[in-house]
Amino acid sequence: MTHFWHSVHQLQNVDGNLVIDGCSASALMERYGSPLYVYSENRIRENFRRLQSTFRKYYSNYHVFFAVKANNNPAIVKILAEEGAGMDCSCLEETEIARSLGVESGRQLFTAVFPTPASIQEAIDRRIILNLENVRDLELINEENTPEVLSFRVNPGMGSSGKEGLIFAGPNAKFGIQASEVEYAYAEAKRRGVTRFGVHMMTGSNVHDPLYFAEIMEMLMDIIGPVVQKLGITLEFINIGGSLGVPYQPEDPELDIDKVARCVVDMLRAKLKEYDIPEPMLIQEPGRYLVADAGVLLTTVSSLKEGETTFLGVDAGMNTLLRPALYDSYHHIVPTNGMDRKNTCPYNVVGQICENTDLFSKGRKLPEKLKPGDHLAFLDVGAYGYGMSSQYNTRPRAAEVLVNDGEAYLIRKRENLEDILNKVIIPEHLTT
Ligand SMILES: Cc1ncc(COP(=O)(O)O)c(C=O)c1O
Repeated sequence: MTHFWHSVHQLQNVDGNLVIDGCSASALMERYGSPLYVYSENRIRENFRRLQSTFRKYYSNYHVFFAVKANNNPAIVKILAEEGAGMDCSCLEETEIARSLGVESGRQLFTAVFPTPASIQEAIDRRIILNLENVRDLELINEENTPEVLSFRVNPGMGSSGKEGLIFAGPNAKFGIQASEVEYAYAEAKRRGVTRFGVHMMTGSNVHDPLYFAEIMEMLMDIIGPVVQKLGITLEFINIGGSLGVPYQPEDPELDIDKVARCVVDMLRAKLKEYDIPEPMLIQEPGRYLVADAGVLLTTVSSLKEGETTFLGVDAGMNTLLRPALYDSYHHIVPTNGMDRKNTCPYNVVGQICENTDLFSKGRKLPEKLKPGDHLAFLDVGAYGYGMSSQYNTRPRAAEVLVNDGEAYLIRKRENLEDILNKVIIPEHLTT
């Protein structure tokens, strides 16, 4: 028995067969079909505990809010709620998932992008922590509905990621308020009766440099510090977003989370001292770090086309896992049986969708003689995997299964044609 993927010891090679948190991949596919998303409950809990305990070594008032958009399956969200996570929600529907699982409204953050006035109003009515990203939204706040706490999403002027599409701050980003507007935003909120404040940023995703996080903390503090001093407001929390990277490729380093925590907290303390601000709550709202490496997508080879390039078609596509087509993202691929074979043969692994971008890998070396009916596993798909899937090309979405120490639980049924058509209404004049 060997564990073969970074520190994810829930992924085992047992006599050449893939076992996920005690469940054989082949047996899971036999029971639940293909393609299939599988998540390790133990890995999610481990990721949460590692992050929280590491930061709390340096800063006891540290809290993790899970970015629900990364994986909105209520079973997954519940695991994190049980661990004590608050929830970062991008829309009211996500706050509803959090509420239904028992997460209090004061532990839900509403960070919507270009939200409607009605959704802001509802978030205020439900006492969810509002995180505004546009100063104009302040016009919706008046004496009758002043929220207890208000936060602003600030664009500190810099973002980072290995992928252009995953940079959320800096001059070209649509998110957040500009540094030049920050003083006005807090002054105006104060004038409208808000008494407790937070500040937030979310600058990029999948960042592997441990020093980056202290750097953006410095930028944020140098924006908010003078404003807090000048306006004499109470800063209740500082939320530095998500962005913690995970190793998708074999050569990617593991993020040194201890270094991230130590450097972030050192910087925070230095800046609090400089601006004479009492210690606020420190929040991080990761998605990827908590769930990406807990998820595996199991697929079946549908056909092989040999030629100058060998195309290996599988029954999952950009409809099942969009990240490679959207961002050219890498997902490691392993056969679920015969894992000890050498990876000697280059394949373009493709899906069944009628788009040329429906391509998981170009020239990826896998064992030779792969054939229809063989199973392949795509690793690190627990974040932004199922959530970005679609019914494009009239393909029902995959099923989702949670595994834990050899037990498997279906947590989302596989869709069928009826699920694709059940919202359709055909006007009467087209029915004859
Ligand atoms: C506002 C916000 N917070 C947190 C996250 C989670 O980011 P990550 O998965 O990089 O941790 C995202 C992701 O897009 C986000 O938009």
